[in-house]
Amino acid sequence: MKKRIIAGNWKLYIEEVDAAKKLASTLKRARSKTPNIDLIVLPSATLLGTVAGALKGSNIAVGAQAIQPFQSGAYTGYVSPAAVKEVGATWALVGHSERRMQTIDGVPAAGESDEQVAAQVRAAHEAGLKVMLCIGEVERDPGGAHFSVIERQLSSALSPLAKTNIKLAIAYEPVWAIGKTSADAMKPADLEEMVIFIRRTLTELFDRAAAAKIPILYGGSVDASNAHELLTQGGVVGFLVGRASTDSKSCIELLKVCQG
Ligand code: PGA
Repeated sequence: MKKRIIAGNWKLYIEEVDAAKKLASTLKRARSKTPNIDLIVLPSATLLGTVAGALKGSNIAVGAQAIQPFQSGAYTGYVSPAAVKEVGATWALVGHSERRMQTIDGVPAAGESDEQVAAQVRAAHEAGLKVMLCIGEVERDPGGAHFSVIERQLSSALSPLAKTNIKLAIAYEPVWAIGKTSADAMKPADLEEMVIFIRRTLTELFDRAAAAKIPILYGGSVDASNAHELLTQGGVVGFLVGRASTDSKSCIELLKVCQG
């Protein structure tokens, strides 16, 4: 069976050291029963070192939810790829829609552009981090304009790296499906269509063999109730999971379903 990938995007759902350690040890215990899953945990920046320490030796990878392209010097408030690597991260999530948004809950937010995302992808790659690039349309368009959004996001972030051996995974997360209930998640047939499109676009950017190896994940209201059909009919190898990854019970249930 093909190895599956589950990445838990803790967002700001988990902010306290004790809660982070507790969830990390639950995952550590679950690890022996989920040999078919590559597990990645993405805590917020201040918890990265704690979680990486708690998961040491567990074969569960840790990644940063966001990084910036600057390495060292006069860059107040930025977190460099090298810094997250030093505390134990091996992955960087780049281009999440919550980083691309201009405002969240009416408050001005990071509003990261395609150019910023491209710079972050390059910096993460250069620092030796694996990149999980998030892409996704804000809304579906009956005329199919969402396919051009996806093509633009992929090409702008990846064309400069087309000739490199970048270690990459794509997390396709339609913004309209994020943070809702499983009933609002994407339908498997629509997902499969989009995965074929993403794979074709990757083939144009990389060579066919390299493109075929890039894992494509889905994210957006995944939990144990919809994971099986999305995995078996949606054409993805795994998920980027927000809310359901931050509660021990729902996370274990989801891992069981994905383990098969
Ligand atoms: P969700 O979040 O699973 O809570 O919808 C997914 C994500 O934004 O990565």
